[in-house]
Amino acid sequence: MKNKDYKKLLDKEKTVKRNGMHSFHRYFGKLIPAIPAFAIKTFTKEGDYILDSFCGSGTTLLEAKNLNRNAFGVDLNPLAVFVAKVKTTKIPKEKVKRVWEKLQADIKADGRNYSNEKDPYCVNIDHWFKDFAKNDLLKLRKNILELPKGEIKDFFLGCFSAFLRGVSNADPRHVFPGYSKRLRKLDAEGKRTIDVFASFERAVKKRMEYLEVLPENNAKTKAFASDSRSLPKEIKNVSLIVVNPPYISSIRYLETMKIEMGWLSFIQNQKEYLTLDKRVVGTERFYKSDLEVIDQTGLFAVDRQVKKLREAGNKKMAKVVSQYFNDMKKSIGEMSRVLKKGGHIVVKISDSTVRGEKIETHKHFIEIAKENGLKNIACFKDSFDENSRSLLTTRNSYSGIMNHDWILIFQK
Ligand SMILES: C[S@@+](CC[C@H](N)C(=O)[O-])C[C@H]1O[C@@H](n2cnc3c(N)ncnc32)[C@H](O)[C@@H]1O
Repeated sequence: MKNKDYKKLLDKEKTVKRNGMHSFHRYFGKLIPAIPAFAIKTFTKEGDYILDSFCGSGTTLLEAKNLNRNAFGVDLNPLAVFVAKVKTTKIPKEKVKRVWEKLQADIKADGRNYSNEKDPYCVNIDHWFKDFAKNDLLKLRKNILELPKGEIKDFFLGCFSAFLRGVSNADPRHVFPGYSKRLRKLDAEGKRTIDVFASFERAVKKRMEYLEVLPENNAKTKAFASDSRSLPKEIKNVSLIVVNPPYISSIRYLETMKIEMGWLSFIQNQKEYLTLDKRVVGTERFYKSDLEVIDQTGLFAVDRQVKKLREAGNKKMAKVVSQYFNDMKKSIGEMSRVLKKGGHIVVKISDSTVRGEKIETHKHFIEIAKENGLKNIACFKDSFDENSRSLLTTRNSYSGIMNHDWILIFQK
């Protein structure tokens, strides 16, 4: 098949109506489900194993489940992995409904005093939550945490994380948490009502409906809070890998989810947060001393650009770029290792502009893949989806203007 044939198949997938479960939880940089759906239908059969080693909130995993394929997901962000698990776990609605009724009754009967309850890890919590909302949230969270361990409890914790932003002062329209002018104005005029329990009820009811459309099948899904540069041993012999890795210094993924991660105890202090953030591929977080060691990537054009950035006094960006490609070399090496012979990899990636230097990331990925025994069988442009608008603005300010992504297909 040629590029245009693959593109046609992908475009056709874009017209298919998707499972509501994809909207379970916000996540920035989400794949459009059409990409994994197209890849899965084109390159695999039922029962095959699929991997997304930068799985984020689990779009690939959910599409695999929908199409009765087994899937592995890996992401550094434990909250993303948790959301991916919740989104792919089928639970009979009746069971959830019973627990929901009990949870509501427990909350109503809960006369405990929450004003002295320990706050979750959240820098400046009083800036992000009104006092009464924080107390209601502490009560709600406590009652969910007291449910028996298991998938129903996780479902409610997932709902808690998903609705949290809507009852905070962080504007849900913004990628990064921020108490916007818009929200401040609404608050000053008394036009915003925050009702924690009523909002949670709406959030739960909507998500119980999503659960209903999740198919009942034998497809297994396993998501790991782990590193794509060194994949867990259990992952092997996969037939297809679908990924959209981070872009060079694109989005500070962890920062976008910091409030939710604190409330769900995935991070308990600043040190844990910084340690995790330093490991993100594409990170801009370096110690000053790190900037003195800039490793070659072995990619001729990249090393030349890195040298240029350094010579222009831009040590930090030189480090960001070289580290990014060295990390992606490890990640692509790992993908190749766990892929079956004959298996495919579908990558969505965008080029970047760093301090005026255009970096053709997609071409470098092809070079790296070749070094790892992968044949590039297709490479075509895919225009941004309307839904990625918010992301587009962020990408523009960080890494230069991009108005299309690249879809790369490899075969081992
Ligand atoms: C573009 S997002 C993927 C979004 C995902 N496809 C979805 O639909 O939600 C890139 C992801 O890479 C993850 N990531 C960054 N560095 C990583 C690493 N070293 N190992 C695993 N995941 C990493 C980030 O946490 C982020 O979730």
